[in-house]
Formats: sequence, C-alpha cells, structure tokens
Amino acid sequence: MKAVVLYKTCSPEELTISEIPVPEVKSGWVLIKVKAFGLNRSELMMREYEGNAPYINLPRVLGIECVGEIADVSDSTFRKRQKVVALMGGMGRSFDGSYAEYALIPTKNVFTVETDLPWEELAAIPETYFTAYGSLFSSLQLSPEDILLVRGGTSAAGLSAIQLAKSIGATVLASTRKTHKRELLINQGADHVLIDDGTLKSQLLNLYPNGITKVLELVGPATLAESLSMVKLHGIVCVTGILGKKGTIENFYPIKDIPSGVYLTGFSSNNPTQQIMDDIFSRIKKHKLKPAIAKVFALSEIGQAHRLMENNEANGKVVVQTS
Ligand SMILES: NC(=O)c1ccc[n+]([C@@H]2O[C@H](COP(=O)([O-])OP(=O)(O)OC[C@H]3O[C@@H](n4cnc5c(N)ncnc54)[C@H](OP(=O)(O)O)[C@@H]3O)[C@@H](O)[C@H]2O)c1
Repeated sequence: MKAVVLYKTCSPEELTISEIPVPEVKSGWVLIKVKAFGLNRSELMMREYEGNAPYINLPRVLGIECVGEIADVSDSTFRKRQKVVALMGGMGRSFDGSYAEYALIPTKNVFTVETDLPWEELAAIPETYFTAYGSLFSSLQLSPEDILLVRGGTSAAGLSAIQLAKSIGATVLASTRKTHKRELLINQGADHVLIDDGTLKSQLLNLYPNGITKVLELVGPATLAESLSMVKLHGIVCVTGILGKKGTIENFYPIKDIPSGVYLTGFSSNNPTQQIMDDIFSRIKKHKLKPAIAKVFALSEIGQAHRLMENNEANGKVVVQTS
C-alpha cells in the first residue's frame, strides 16, 4: 500500500510516499480502508522535531485520525465495509497511523458513524470537533449564558469551537493575530473579533468591562496569564492548545498566578467514546454545522498539505483524500 512514512524529521517537501505492506490484522485491532484523513499540528510537530524524541520510534506512518470503511473486522463486532472514524490511542505516534491506504487501529479507537457527508467533509470532523466539544462542554461546562473567548479562533479547532458554542446560544469572542481574518471568524459565527496584537485585553474590556466567563485557550501557556486575568469570579479557562509553541510555564506559582476564585482546567483528546462521537454527529446534523475545510489534497500532495498547515493561512481543516 501507499503510505507517508516519517524516517527522520524533515521539511514538508521531504515527506514522500513509500510502498509498504498492508498491516497484518491482529486480535483487538481492525483494519480500516482509509478514505480520507485530516491533518493535525501533532503531525507537524512529529515531522519538525518530535520524531527525534526518545519515546518516538521512527520509521512511523504519520496520522492521528482517519475516516474510512472496515476492511477486516478481525475479532471485533464491526461489519465489513462499515463506515467508521478513528482517532488517537497512540495512532501515528506509538503505532503506524492514518497517512496510508490502510490503517490497523485498536478497536477502542474506532467509532461507527451514520452519515451521508462526503468523505472529505467527514475527515474534517473527528479529532477537531472532539477536541472542541470536550473542551467546551466537559472542561468549560459551557452554557448559553456564557461569554466565551476562543483564543486562537482561526485554527481548525477554534473554528469548530465557535460553531459548537454558537449552536447552544453562547456569546462568542474569537481572536486572531491577523486583521484580514476578521471576516472568516464572523462568517463562522463569532459575535466579536479581537486582534491578538498586545492590546487584546483592552479590546475585551471595552466590550465587557467586568470580564467574561470562559476562555478556550488554544494559543496556550504563552497567553495563559492574560487569559486568566480576563475572566470573572468563578470563570473558567481551559488550556487545550499550544499554538504559541510553549507547552509549559516556568516558575508557575498557582496561588499568585491563578486569580482567586477563577478555575484553570485543560483538555486532552486521549479518550474518545462512541457516545461522544454520536453526540457530536447529531449536533452537527441538528444545527447544520459545516466543517471549515481549508483545502483537500491527494495523498501524493502531502508535502503541499503540510506546507499549507505550517504557513498558518489554512483557515480551516487541511484534508487528504486517499482514494
Ligand atoms: N488538547 C488536545 O487534545 C488537542 C487536540 C487537537 C489539537 N490541539 C491543539 O489545538 C491547537 C489548534 O490545533 P489546530 O490543528 O486546529 O491548529 P491549526 O488549524 O493548524 O491552527 C492554525 C492557526 O494557528 C494560529 N497560530 C499559529 N501560530 C500561532 C502563534 N504563535 N500564536 C498564536 N496563534 C498562532 C494561526 O492563527 P492567526 O494567524 O489567525 O493568529 C493559525 O490560523 C494546536 O495547538 C493543537 O496542538 C490539542
């Protein structure tokens, strides 16, 4: 089969297609005929530098999510040719992932889906909407009364979070560093756009002098201190992203750094379930949500696809179709 195998950390253009054997089915795992997959920052980091980390064993087929059909049910209860989405569980990191024509995935990370969405649209959903959904409804406990800031709003996760938050009637502020992306955010449903140029807090306080109630922090620790300072008493900040390229906080002093009565939480997409996937797809259908797709590439164009994501001008999910 054709697959994108990472042999060593490299530039987007150095990603190439290899011919490798179709994985052999084993107990507890199913073989998926991959129809399409979405790109994630996780693969960008693997390709750029994380591939050198001691806990990663290269060569590795990249890709942490895919959509497709069951090609071999193995000892599972799936049906052959059943439509599925698959994500996480170490996919593309501790075992070979989805940038391929076939992927062998642990049954617990494979979920059935009943939908008529075309493959490329379906591929934009699993990891991105699961991340937004979990951050908003589990970690941030978002309700219609909330005033939410999506910091890093133009990311694929940010755009889906704007849609999901608006679907329950919350007020949504979204940020970008680029003024030309204002319209994108408004078109996705944001009520207000804030430009993250060093004056974000004063823009926010001009709109809401007493602060807001929730922040989905996708830029991450780089802007966390400011985000914490903008929420009201009993407000919640959820760190889900690290777009600011900073994953940790040096000399973090919780008593001082978290304002009294403000809650700090996080979200990790490590534990998807069938029930959550069902809920996500029924929300998408009920509210007629349309994933923001930046561009659809062929597998042979994987280098261009990675370049688009790296340039930060995708403005939506970058998708690759395998057939
Ligand atoms: N916790 C989890 O389980 C989980 C799961 C999935 C994703 N994530 C994380 O969520 C974040 C979003 O992922 P994604 O795939 O949706 O991203 P993406 O679509 O590739 O994000 C692209 C956007 O990132 C913004 N950006 C890039 N560098 C930035 C910087 N230094 N400071 C501020 N903004 C920057 C740009 O916004 P502007 O140019 O408009 O400012 C750009 O439009 C990532 O950090 C990813 O690792 C976490």
